[in-house]
Amino acid sequence: MCGIVGYIGKKNTKEILLDGLKELEYRGYDSAGIAILEDGNFHNFKAVGKLVNLEEKTKDFTTDKFAVGIGHTRWATHGKPTELNAHPHLGESSYVVHNGIIENYVSLKKALIEDGVRFLSQTDTEVIVHQFEKNLKTMQSAFEAFFQTIKELQGAYAILLVTKSEPDTIFFAKHGSPMILGINSEEEKYFASSDTPLIGHCSDVNYFEDGDYGYVSPNEIVLFDKNNNTKGVQFSKLSTNRLSAQKDGFRFFMEKEIYEQSDVIADTLMGRLGIQNILFEELDKALFEGIDEIKLCACGTSYHSALSASYLFERYAKIKTTVEIASEFRYRSPIMTKDTLFIVISQSGETADTLETLKMAKEAGLKTLVICNVDNSSMVRLADASILTRAGIEKGVASTKAFATQVCVFWMLSLYIAEIKNSLSSEEIAAQITLLREVPGHVKVSDAMHERIKRLSKRYLHGHGFFFIGRDIFYPLALEGALKLKEISYLHAEGYPSGEMKHGPIALADPELFTIALLPQHLLYEKSKSNVEELSARDSTICAISALEFDKADDYIPISACRDYMLEFFEMMVVVQLLSLEISIRLGNDVDMPRNLAKSVTVE
Ligand code: G6P
Repeated sequence: MCGIVGYIGKKNTKEILLDGLKELEYRGYDSAGIAILEDGNFHNFKAVGKLVNLEEKTKDFTTDKFAVGIGHTRWATHGKPTELNAHPHLGESSYVVHNGIIENYVSLKKALIEDGVRFLSQTDTEVIVHQFEKNLKTMQSAFEAFFQTIKELQGAYAILLVTKSEPDTIFFAKHGSPMILGINSEEEKYFASSDTPLIGHCSDVNYFEDGDYGYVSPNEIVLFDKNNNTKGVQFSKLSTNRLSAQKDGFRFFMEKEIYEQSDVIADTLMGRLGIQNILFEELDKALFEGIDEIKLCACGTSYHSALSASYLFERYAKIKTTVEIASEFRYRSPIMTKDTLFIVISQSGETADTLETLKMAKEAGLKTLVICNVDNSSMVRLADASILTRAGIEKGVASTKAFATQVCVFWMLSLYIAEIKNSLSSEEIAAQITLLREVPGHVKVSDAMHERIKRLSKRYLHGHGFFFIGRDIFYPLALEGALKLKEISYLHAEGYPSGEMKHGPIALADPELFTIALLPQHLLYEKSKSNVEELSARDSTICAISALEFDKADDYIPISACRDYMLEFFEMMVVVQLLSLEISIRLGNDVDMPRNLAKSVTVE
């Protein structure tokens, strides 16, 4: 998804912008660009594809004195990923970068064209710079023109704009897309659409709120809120750790993140497991007063963890739970009643569809909770309460450790609510807590298992499709396994409830249909087994994942003997992640940055 950086200072502006964009690379993009205003002149570079292409184009250009600069990585929405469509976009004497979508760009563009403006790109963004320049012609100052422009825009945006008429200033506006300002003792000013480009450069940061706009120059930070009142910037300390993860000898970040799961799950559990109760210091039990139902809302992998949660909530907390895909929920006029706790789940905390459902729930007066991996993200700041998953920065676009920690949080939350609702005895909760403590040990990747999956993966590079099948909570895991494979191997895969295969999909069964069967020993084993037998009898190629060997399977990936189905869940999760990884590597794909995907989708 698009990323923004900005800089005002005397250092090498080009390097600072390119380094900042590199930190945003993992979010997914298909072109990039920078614009630098130095000594009254603009220098602009754009390139399609990876940042190395932009580096190559800028290799003979340096900046060594005061300059202002803006940069952008673009993930195409309006118009193809071409150089002309890449940001920054130029007017006559100004450049703009933008994340989000300008919904009324068509009417603005039409009016501008009638005024004689020539558009170079197909983007919605370009209207911003032309509209600004149109306003500049009739207004007293650049800031007035910028303010007028913002008023005329509808949609979601984080915007940085630089113009020759104010050569030491960056104008900014934030509405629905994240934007941060960072400062340091060297009087430099940095902008970015997330923390990571600022780490190591800035001591303090300000997270803009929706509706904020203003401008920054070497000596001034001027900020207005959505009601056009001036407001002070609220700086908070930024971590000094260079969080930017390195691959540590792994071939891909995704592989490293799979291996990290044991450690990050231990972090997620840390301080939260009592002997007979779950300790969420961040929660006030009053959040659950008057609550008879839970609604979970998310996208992608987070949606799958939400589905998993629904099994745990109903089984342990005995609370009615429904799960919704955020993009669907938004537009289907849902009924929201105040006895419902609305929970959104998001790795990034910025996914536009999920964020919007959170806003809807808040407007409807529901109590809200977010399960999120990024502190200070938009969702964390908006929800009534939040639980952080503590997975650390996840760089692989295909989510792994974030999913693992989300499910752990949900398991803990189901027990936390079970205590409030008295639906489990203290002994039962204590037994579940003992199981939770065992999870880190069960997600450790053994050399033998990884090697087996690596070898086996060569048999699954073709065929006309994959079905990942499971029952109960292993159904969402099957969905997640199929999503992982789709995302990074580009092979068609579906997750299906095992018992539902006979109602249609079994018609596809033949040796070229690969069935990845999740067969937990401790949950509906016999029932799941007979569903797999039905497929095996029709010659589908079966890969069974189980602690028990299964003679009707063509391939078998063993997990260790576990004493509970949830431990089997986590063991199988690692297997399906590694299987996708190895298939993708064999196919020669870019595992960490799969085609067409973005890490954080901040547009609808
Ligand atoms: C994108 C990513 C997925 C992710 C989904 C939701 O589509 O490619 O991996 O699951 O967004 O992201 P979130 O940050 O809200 O969990």
